[in-house]
Amino acid sequence: MVTLKEKIGVAVIGMGRVGRTHLDAIALNPDIARLAAVIDTDESRARAAAEETGTKYYLSVDEALTDPEIQAVVICLPHNLHQPVAMQAMDAGRHVLVEKPMATSFADAREMVDRAKEKKLVLQAGQDLRFLDSFQEAKRRVMNGDIGQVFNILFVMAEAFTLTPAPGRFTTPPWWRDVEKTGGLCFPMMGAHTVDIILWLCEGKKPVRVYSEAASINPELEGMDEVIITIRFDDGAMATNHLSLNTMPARNDLLIVGTEGRIQINIAGGHDLKQLVGVFSTELYLGDKLISSGTQHPHNFAVATREFVSAILEKRPSSVGHHDILNQMAILDAARKSAEIHQPVLL
Ligand SMILES: NC(=O)c1ccc[n+]([C@@H]2O[C@H](COP(=O)([O-])OP(=O)(O)OC[C@H]3O[C@@H](n4cnc5c(N)ncnc54)[C@H](O)[C@@H]3O)[C@@H](O)[C@H]2O)c1
Repeated sequence: MVTLKEKIGVAVIGMGRVGRTHLDAIALNPDIARLAAVIDTDESRARAAAEETGTKYYLSVDEALTDPEIQAVVICLPHNLHQPVAMQAMDAGRHVLVEKPMATSFADAREMVDRAKEKKLVLQAGQDLRFLDSFQEAKRRVMNGDIGQVFNILFVMAEAFTLTPAPGRFTTPPWWRDVEKTGGLCFPMMGAHTVDIILWLCEGKKPVRVYSEAASINPELEGMDEVIITIRFDDGAMATNHLSLNTMPARNDLLIVGTEGRIQINIAGGHDLKQLVGVFSTELYLGDKLISSGTQHPHNFAVATREFVSAILEKRPSSVGHHDILNQMAILDAARKSAEIHQPVLL
């Protein structure tokens, strides 16, 4: 039984779209975690979130890291800030849950992983899709051999986003315009979800080759907003990531094909600002048979937070393993390069 004193004080950095989902995730784990503070450089956002949750706010990470009540931070910032803020927090002795992608390059992620090891801190990447019950069930069935040997996977993540509000499209935060801040738009934004899930489902297989083609359709956004990434594994299995920011209406689904059947997960929702961003509803099919459908409670972010805080309390690494995340980063680096040179890249 965790006592009040032992509850981990968690601060959320970045009170934008997904930051609020993390506030809810902490509130859904009252037995082991408490919200210690919220942080945003935008005072109106920081103050509003602090008032709503009855906590204090800070306008800078520097200031927040002087607060001894903060033992862990959740980083919900533009992608280019993930690595520097995570390093700063770990140097100040704080555990880190960092939204996806962990970093914008393999080299940056490697430094983060090394620092976490050196300081004996929990560093968990925000791979929230893994914590959906339907994805957990799919993984169990794959590992159990229910669809035989997996030889092909297709993950379609196709949405419509634009900077200037437009009918039928979600509006992006301003930093999506800038390729330096996103690290390549679709590659990290969506690829960090889809590549992660593919690697997780292909546990035991080694990725060996990556090929990517990419295009920029929306002139408002720098970087690639239409991307395909194919991954070849050492046992001959292959996977395709179909990533789009120009698809109306949205279509998000995962197809896992094995020698003895297929699993499909259809994903809906997750971007409406009136609801919790990133919390999806799903339908899981084994062949044509519907196995489960709906939005789970507690939601996937709450389950991910529970894993993060439990790892801190139990002094163990998070189940979101660093090896997988570094592989994901290497694949995203290789994909960006492949799209540039129009050649496959060996890993
Ligand atoms: N897992 C998911 O499903 C999911 C969904 C949405 C976003 N995300 C990820 O979450 C992260 C944040 O995305 P978002 O859409 O919430 O962005 P956002 O722009 O809505 O929010 C970012 C917030 O950070 C604040 N900020 C910027 N620089 C800061 C700094 N130096 N110190 C403190 N605050 C600062 C901004 O004022 C803003 O409020 C990204 O990594 C994104 O990919 C994940």
